[in-house]
Amino acid sequence: MKFVVRSPIYDSEEITIPPEVSNLAKSFNGTVCSPKGDEYKIKNNIVDLLTDQKSYTLAQSTNQWKLTASVYEDVWRVRSLSLLTGEPFPVDKEKELLREWINPQPEKKYLDVGCSTCLYARFLKTLEPKSFQVAIDFSAAMLEEARLKSEADQADVLLIRADAREMPFFAKTFDGVVMGGTLNELTDELKVLFECRRVMKKNGVLFLMHLIQSDSWYGKVLQNSAGWSGIKFWTVEQSNELFERAGFRVEDQMTKGIVCFTKLRPV
Ligand SMILES: C[S@@+](CC[C@H](N)C(=O)[O-])C[C@H]1O[C@@H](n2cnc3c(N)ncnc32)[C@H](O)[C@@H]1O
Repeated sequence: MKFVVRSPIYDSEEITIPPEVSNLAKSFNGTVCSPKGDEYKIKNNIVDLLTDQKSYTLAQSTNQWKLTASVYEDVWRVRSLSLLTGEPFPVDKEKELLREWINPQPEKKYLDVGCSTCLYARFLKTLEPKSFQVAIDFSAAMLEEARLKSEADQADVLLIRADAREMPFFAKTFDGVVMGGTLNELTDELKVLFECRRVMKKNGVLFLMHLIQSDSWYGKVLQNSAGWSGIKFWTVEQSNELFERAGFRVEDQMTKGIVCFTKLRPV
């Protein structure tokens, strides 16, 4: 599918991404540009729309490392929810919820925000091969790993290096947006939630997985110490206030330990 993004510099300018870019079976290198002439590199199918050097928190910096990206999913991600909920919580259970709440459809467009290795986008593409999946992250190392895993899964995803605080998409582009574990790590969570709503269609859906404040004393100690690396935790009530401020209503929600899954609709 030919996909149109918004120039990260000129808000009203379109940049067309050729369909070959999301065909991960074949390496694609080149450039794309807007009619104003601003040009962006595509290296090994990853479209780089990041225009300036960002300042990162410690947690965000570690995600820029190749070593973190190479072990993130196989060592941490597949075990993380069992460790965080304190009960067996395989990725398949999370995928089941994703399938139920997002229910991807042919020809519809979906966005994975702060995708890391794009576990969610790959799964949605496998579920509905005729859907169009886009995934963004500002870590080049994570996107390279996402590219490897997507090719291995034969799940074509359009991988874009971009900042979720200023998404390079026009309003009402996506039928669904997913964001797994990223909310806690964001520098400006409200701005990103606003962006999720802006790029989503009126009847779109947002699937969120994030971590909430722990009730136990040891959990509180751990979460307080994670605070200095830039990771934030809210109570369920505070989280829901945040979602409402960004223009969403909670349609469904499930918490297990400190893990919270929320299905949101734009108001
Ligand atoms: C905890 S990981 C989430 C991984 C993934 N969603 C999953 O379910 O496994 C957070 C990711 O968000 C990315 N990230 C954080 N802030 C971002 C921003 N403002 N724009 C784009 N990506 C961001 C980080 O680089 C990191 O890869």
